[in-house]
Amino acid sequence: MTQTLSPANPFLFGKPVGGVNFCNRSTELATLRELYMSANSAWLYSPRRYGKTSLIKESFAQLDAPNIHTAYVDFLPISAGQDVAEVYMRGISPLVNTLFGNLTQALKELKQLATSFVPALTVDEDGKPVLTMTGHARVGDASPVLEDVLQLPEKLAQKRKQRVVVAIDEFQEVASIRGLEARLRSVMQHQQHVSYIMAGSRASLLKTIFTSPERPFYQFAHHIPIDKIDIQELVRYICGRFEYTHVDIADEHARQIVLLADCHPHFVQYFASIAWQIAKNGALDEELIPLLTEQVVTSMDPGFRMFYDDLAMSQRRILAHIAVNGGEEMLSERVRAGSRLGSAATVQTALAALEKKESLVRQNNEWKYINPAFALWVRHQIVYAM
Ligand SMILES: Nc1ncnc2c1ncn2[C@@H]1O[C@H](COP(=O)(O)OP(=O)(O)OP(=O)(O)O)[C@@H](O)[C@H]1O
Ligand SMILES: [Mg+2]
Repeated sequence: MTQTLSPANPFLFGKPVGGVNFCNRSTELATLRELYMSANSAWLYSPRRYGKTSLIKESFAQLDAPNIHTAYVDFLPISAGQDVAEVYMRGISPLVNTLFGNLTQALKELKQLATSFVPALTVDEDGKPVLTMTGHARVGDASPVLEDVLQLPEKLAQKRKQRVVVAIDEFQEVASIRGLEARLRSVMQHQQHVSYIMAGSRASLLKTIFTSPERPFYQFAHHIPIDKIDIQELVRYICGRFEYTHVDIADEHARQIVLLADCHPHFVQYFASIAWQIAKNGALDEELIPLLTEQVVTSMDPGFRMFYDDLAMSQRRILAHIAVNGGEEMLSERVRAGSRLGSAATVQTALAALEKKESLVRQNNEWKYINPAFALWVRHQIVYAM
């Protein structure tokens, strides 16, 4: 007897997504493609979990230019003490495959191009090449190894008469090592065959790196803003994923999920994943959103409660007000009196504290929750308390 496997939950979160799990971003993908084709560099910023890594990887996957090769370097490990040159070398490893196809030939050429160390090739558990370094003196601050590694993509591309795009994710980590920004910039600025896409989620730090006249990366690259995803696209995406797995959902419920998640890509996937399981378990239509809310609130309760209990009363009132009424005109007499928020100075201080704690963010004169699940939780506490 053959058994049909039950379809897996079609919503993914907790790691970058691509292909059928990637929703829209057609404008950003087109901008990036244009950038790669014109050999320009860019930096992009968004708050956590908006989908920077997914976007970069998807833009690489969709790039249909045989002469342009891509590599992805994640700088996060350098803040944990990993050597920058080794991290970079590992990240550019896929170029060995795409530029050569023949690993023996690749290694031979790499050995001619690197002067301060001997490149070596191993393979990872998936059989993909991993570049490492041998025979070099201890990698220290003044060592030429880093410059040598940074030059490899340029030298390789030049030799093969191709072009390369290197993505450096979590780029803000350059600031954690003294002198690194200047060293990177001095190598990168002279390269003719490599363009860079630098991404990160620490807004103020990235902005300082790329827009302060005294910093090495000042005016080095275009800025591409990354926002949330369009509501219609997300609704269509949710409906499509439900349909693909033969589980029913009403358009209106998909819309409510997106609204609850405030169009935040990670939370849309997270909420939709819970809703999919509830629907698949046979819940009635009208039970879907209440059950979803209950599940999110219950699973997040311990963490949120601990955080909330530590807040000053003025901050809790502000959170409650915004969870129910939204965050416009917070300093107006009408809002302050209506929700007993206190004086304008009290509200201002509390808002600043909540911004610092990364609970709220100010967007176009409106205060918003950064985490839509927290908004849901606060709203639930208010309803429950009544
Ligand atoms: N285009 C998209 N379509 C659907 N879901 C997406 C999309 N982009 C991101 N997501 C969702 O958001 C989650 C976070 O995406 P990703 O890791 O790419 O974000 P990030 O901005 O790089 O996060 P971080 O700030 O932690 O580095 C993914 O796991 C996925 O659930
Ligand atoms: Mg990321």
